[in-house]
Amino acid sequence: MEGLKRSKIKDLLNGKAGEEVLVKGWVRTKRGNKQLKFIALNDGSTINNIQIVVNAEQFDKDLITAIGTGASIAVKGKLVSSTGSEQLVEVQAEDIELYGACDPMRYPIQKKDTSLEYLRTVAHMRLRTNTFGAILRIRHSMAFAIHKFFNDKGFVYLHTPIITESDAEGAGDMFQVTTMDLSNVPTHKNKIDYSKDFFGKKTSLTVSGQLEGELGATAVGEIYTFGPTFRAENSNTPRHLAEFWMIEPEMAFYDINDNMQLSEEFVKYLVKYALDNCKDDLQFLNDKYDNSLIERLEQVLNTEFVRLSYTEGIEILEKAIAEGHKFEYPVHWGTDLQSEHERYLVETHFGKPVILIDFPKDIKAFYMKLNDDGKTVRGMDILVPKIGEIVGGSEREASLEKLEARITELNMNRKNLEWYIDTRRFGSVPHSGFGLGFERLLLFVTGMSNIRDVIPFPRTPKNAEF
Ligand code: 4AD
Ligand code: MG
Repeated sequence: MEGLKRSKIKDLLNGKAGEEVLVKGWVRTKRGNKQLKFIALNDGSTINNIQIVVNAEQFDKDLITAIGTGASIAVKGKLVSSTGSEQLVEVQAEDIELYGACDPMRYPIQKKDTSLEYLRTVAHMRLRTNTFGAILRIRHSMAFAIHKFFNDKGFVYLHTPIITESDAEGAGDMFQVTTMDLSNVPTHKNKIDYSKDFFGKKTSLTVSGQLEGELGATAVGEIYTFGPTFRAENSNTPRHLAEFWMIEPEMAFYDINDNMQLSEEFVKYLVKYALDNCKDDLQFLNDKYDNSLIERLEQVLNTEFVRLSYTEGIEILEKAIAEGHKFEYPVHWGTDLQSEHERYLVETHFGKPVILIDFPKDIKAFYMKLNDDGKTVRGMDILVPKIGEIVGGSEREASLEKLEARITELNMNRKNLEWYIDTRRFGSVPHSGFGLGFERLLLFVTGMSNIRDVIPFPRTPKNAEF
């Protein structure tokens, strides 16, 4: 097989007949009769397989027998026009090398059960399926597009710490990080003595890079973070992970309207990027799992997101209840909306994405800007069909006095926050930002319905394999 460079199947499928080629990959299926075998080969570069045509007489019988689903092979041969219907070209095999056989009886990825539930039980191998190949490629494209979007706008990619002492969201669902011996924890006056811990203080995995992001934005103007985020929420839902990725742009001199505009543009940009660059994979997912996917994505591009105040949202929901609509959870002014409420607004009432703003201050984090009514804050959530919230953000409280008052009111540990308060003490500016949950975005773009299926190695309560 010397002398030839490996071609990726993605490129070969548009290749010219007559070319001598070398392909390497994993066998998806093998079929045919005694003389003529057809191997569907895939190398992960595309959802599409290339067909390898094998004249069995020209090869060792044991070799042909060993080439079954899951086996890895290299094939040298000629690219020829396909007489079959599906593809334009196929490879007429001249030389085949078997890298690794694959026992069909033991291979966990079998045609007979490819349900997503089953695949979660063999998650170490599921990446080899068409479905996860498509998802991994889309995930990659979205990560790339996110960097491109912000880079083209001149934002600075800021790396915020993964280990931190601040509970940015104040929800208290942090994973503690310690090197202390848990069977013999050092104490001082009957309390855990964190001065003996690795960092000399209590630390955890970050729930958000926002507060550090604000340090960046109030220095270089416009930043974004893109990193892993950890939340020990015990929510075993199809939309929650204990480890997820989040993109958090933070912009000096942006008010809530600028913030909403940027977030809407961002979500649309990513949807358009997927439609333009991940066509085959989206078509595959559309046909296999959700036949309204592509239509829904195209619709999102062509509609303006609704802007709706929380108070108006509650009125719509209360009216729906009065008219006989049943929700599992109660809803009235002051409650946090559940996914069913969000989806009612988006899917049933408006039929398009909604940006919900001006929430009661008691259900939102301490850093949000207080409105003149003294009751609501300038938060904003983007809600989309099938999922509910994919973005959460706000204009930040820029006033030193109001921020300090809120910290006191919530009885927060101020000592840990002096560095943050300094942004308001020295050259404070109006500023805003938001967080896009990367896996929530992927749920939306791929049409998958469980968040465990859009991240290669999911972490959820009682589950941290690999
Ligand atoms: O609404 P959240 O909690 O907002 C923040 O963390 C802010 N600091 C963002 C900011 O203003 N810079 O989370 C933001 C988004 C949510 O809208 C959701 O998409 C996602 O992060 N998210 C989760 N995704 C998966 N699993 C979880 N457990 C998630 N929790 C939040
Ligand atoms: Mg939120």
